Amino acid sequence: MQRNAITQQPRDDETISLVVPNAGRVFTPVFRKLWLSGKRFIINKGGAGSSKSFSAAQKELLLSFKRKMTILVTRKVASTLKDSVIPSFRERMQELEVSQYFEENKSERTFYNTETGSKFLFRGLDDPEKLKSIEGIDRILVEEATEISIDDFFELNRRARGRERIQITLNFNPIDERHWLKKHFFDQEIENCEVVESTYHDNQFLTETDKEQIAILKKYNYNQYRIYALGDWGVARVDNPWLYAFDVKKHVSPTPLTVVPNMPVHLSFDFNINPLCCIAVQQTQHYGPNSYIKVLKEFELRNTTVKEACKIIKAAFPHNVLTATGDATGRNRNAGYTSGNEHLWKQVQRGLGLSSAQIFTPKVNPSHTNSRHLCNYVLQEHNSLQIDPSCRGLINDCLTARPIVTDDQNKEDQLMKGAGDSVLGMNLFDCFRYLLETHHGKFVG
Ligand SMILES: Nc1ncnc2c1ncn2[C@@H]1O[C@H](COP(=O)(O)OP(=O)(O)OP(=O)(O)O)[C@@H](O)[C@H]1O
Ligand SMILES: [Mg+2]
Repeated sequence: MQRNAITQQPRDDETISLVVPNAGRVFTPVFRKLWLSGKRFIINKGGAGSSKSFSAAQKELLLSFKRKMTILVTRKVASTLKDSVIPSFRERMQELEVSQYFEENKSERTFYNTETGSKFLFRGLDDPEKLKSIEGIDRILVEEATEISIDDFFELNRRARGRERIQITLNFNPIDERHWLKKHFFDQEIENCEVVESTYHDNQFLTETDKEQIAILKKYNYNQYRIYALGDWGVARVDNPWLYAFDVKKHVSPTPLTVVPNMPVHLSFDFNINPLCCIAVQQTQHYGPNSYIKVLKEFELRNTTVKEACKIIKAAFPHNVLTATGDATGRNRNAGYTSGNEHLWKQVQRGLGLSSAQIFTPKVNPSHTNSRHLCNYVLQEHNSLQIDPSCRGLINDCLTARPIVTDDQNKEDQLMKGAGDSVLGMNLFDCFRYLLETHHGKFVG
């Protein structure tokens, strides 16, 4: 391989000069910072999409041309290496146009640099015994370092010994201010340690859409926005969630849910003046094996009339029979929607073209105590309650819903709410509560 293009000083004592075709087009500022650091520990902390992973992999690949070395690339769980980290290394080789200098042994999960004899080992930390048998590690790259424990880290640090210029790079999003990574590397002085911090603004390769998806978190979940957009430590989760049985892994589908043909779609409305909210659900009538409740879609419609809202909702499910339930106060005349004396449910019925048999409005809204019990019970016990991943508002409400802080026992299940149009509006959450109350009240035997 020809050598001369990157001539910065990566260490105090050595200069790395390699020809990187298209050098100007393949590196971000994060790469340059990583490349220049020669410290033993590199703390590569940042928000989503800031190019931490790309840059760290590029650095390891390029350094492997410098001299013969052993590079351990690791994550907590070995199986995730095959699906994400190893393919990513292959792609980085192609972009750097150095694939021809590497031989891959798939069964051993290694790459071998034929120019220098350097070796990349991809290993999970879930098999510490295997880790112990690896000798002579010069460099370690830990992906998603928040997954590993401080003991894993110390074990890795022990594996890396007896060599000159050992370097351990930890890539991660700062998900929790109570994490050991913060205590260990940020709340005390650590010698020989460099912190590289980055956000999506440091990555010139992200598309406008990518950036919007990160920035939009501000609207839905400020804590996630802190972590993934600002690259700041996430604040500790408040205790006492209203939905203590809600679990993202169990209740949010990893892939989009599909509409079941020939099954009705049940709508549940919350009538705020602004926004008007609705969720759309399909479900089986029975419980037990094969039963399901699928929250397919959420609607948060601003500055609209009931008529317009109905049109939008209907258009989303053109082939299904619809039913509607929701906020009992919609029975009252409501000045917010300025349609003379007609109550809101009449407008919904007409807007959606429903017969009165398809309207299941409760007479009164459920008490918060009963509702809290029912929601948690269904979440805990139902065979399959799944929310489509696009329902970000509802998911955020489920995660953040809290009871008010009170000494009054009668009020301790009271849901904390802010103004209807604020983050604490809990409008979609109300739709969800009304839906369970109307259709699944009998689930609590
Ligand atoms: N050097 C690069 N050349 C081209 N595209 C890049 C480069 N670095 C990053 N990208 C683009 O930016 C995206 C995000 O980069 P990367 O996955 O490295 O970010 P990250 O900081 O590791 O994100 P996360 O915190 O989500 O793990 C990549 O999927 C790729 O599209
Ligand atoms: Mg990454």
